[in-house]
Amino acid sequence: MDKILVRGGRPLTGSISISGAKNATLPVLAASLLTTGRLHLSNIPHLRDVTTMVELMGQHGSAITIDEKLGVEIDNSQITNFTAPYELVSTMRASILVMGPLLARYGQTEISLPGGCAIGSRPVNMHLDGLKAMGAEIDLTAGYIRARAKRLRGARFIFDPVTVTGTENLLMAATLAQGQTILENAAREPEVVDLAQCLTAMGAKIHGAGTSTLIIDGVDELSGCHHDIISDRIEAATFMIAAVLTKGNVHLTKVNVDTLRAPIDKLVAMGAQIEEIDDRTLRIQGNGTIEAIDLETSPYPGFPTDLQAQMLVLISLAKGTGVVTETVFENRFMHVSELQRMGANIRVRGNTAIVRGSPKLVGAPVMATDLRASASLVLAGLAAEGETLISRVYHIDRGYERIEEKLRALDADIQRISG
Ligand code: EPU
Repeated sequence: MDKILVRGGRPLTGSISISGAKNATLPVLAASLLTTGRLHLSNIPHLRDVTTMVELMGQHGSAITIDEKLGVEIDNSQITNFTAPYELVSTMRASILVMGPLLARYGQTEISLPGGCAIGSRPVNMHLDGLKAMGAEIDLTAGYIRARAKRLRGARFIFDPVTVTGTENLLMAATLAQGQTILENAAREPEVVDLAQCLTAMGAKIHGAGTSTLIIDGVDELSGCHHDIISDRIEAATFMIAAVLTKGNVHLTKVNVDTLRAPIDKLVAMGAQIEEIDDRTLRIQGNGTIEAIDLETSPYPGFPTDLQAQMLVLISLAKGTGVVTETVFENRFMHVSELQRMGANIRVRGNTAIVRGSPKLVGAPVMATDLRASASLVLAGLAAEGETLISRVYHIDRGYERIEEKLRALDADIQRISG
């Protein structure tokens, strides 16, 4: 298994370009199952989760052509298999996103029930209740969700709690349902908006994308389209935090500044200098004193849970004490014990971490537990004295495109050790 070796202490300097968003790509790939027309997608990132989704779609019968320059073309005219098997769903929970499209387009699907994972139990009851409200018959047998519906029908459904992939699943299903669907307390994440834009380009009738009420008027069929995937706000903010942590000076291009308001506000409150050069370009500097702040994660437009681990590292090296509360997932502090091994002063009480800033972190061998936790360990390594050796870095390849190459381009001393 590959490891990443980081020698810390170098300020990040230079310019990098941000990739397309993983969490926008996965639902858009699934959305292609709603049509037999061809979808042409650009700005698709090279990530392990994207490869897993392509593999899942391939076993349903999708013909997918990947061209480095031209993007991805999907032809779903020969879908013959409606089952998402345990082997794939267990490696990527987002596989559940094929459920809505397969059910809406083909009237049937069987999906392995995703289990818990390193960040919490993560139920899918909202996905199932919403589809039931739209007339689907659903039963659970032998670890599989079996869903059937001749044609889904429009319904009113209120999410409780708000869920990103749950909103995406029902949004996709509703596009081909008979009549109108109203989804309330829907997720407002930019990735949901990106999916809605792709579906609209396919001919769907959607109102309210980006608000908590989505109104979808079902149509009889959708067609192919071209769609350019939105920029990855979590990747962008991870590099912003890295720039501040290392007291660097970094220029980020191909970002979508409007989707980064919550992390920008927090970083500025801590003392970072952030210049919005235009709506796609940012410059981040972190050469003054960085002050600790309190932070609470919440659904968009609140502070993203996917940046909590990375911010914990920054607060660990700030002046003062910060209280970080995780409200989205119940078990998302697995990185804390690894950060403590590097000298971070963090105490966890339930869903709250109390972080006392220390003058330095010291490199150590550490182990990644999930995608964003592994990013936080890389960040800690960049700021620490000495060497940090991170194992189980396959987690990081799920969601960061060539992270060590991008960091090396910013002058970091980082290398992947294959093994
Ligand atoms: N929840 C339920 N019932 C449901 C669905 C969710 O109780 O039916 C709960 C979850 O247990 C959790 C909360 O609702 O406590 C929010 O979960 P959500 O469903 O929104 O998460 P998700 O859709 O499974 C997506 C991202 C995650 C990101 C979360 C929150 C994708 C593919 N994944 O997950 O991304 O953390 O939203 O923003 O979009 C990552 O990229 O590292 C990642 C984990």
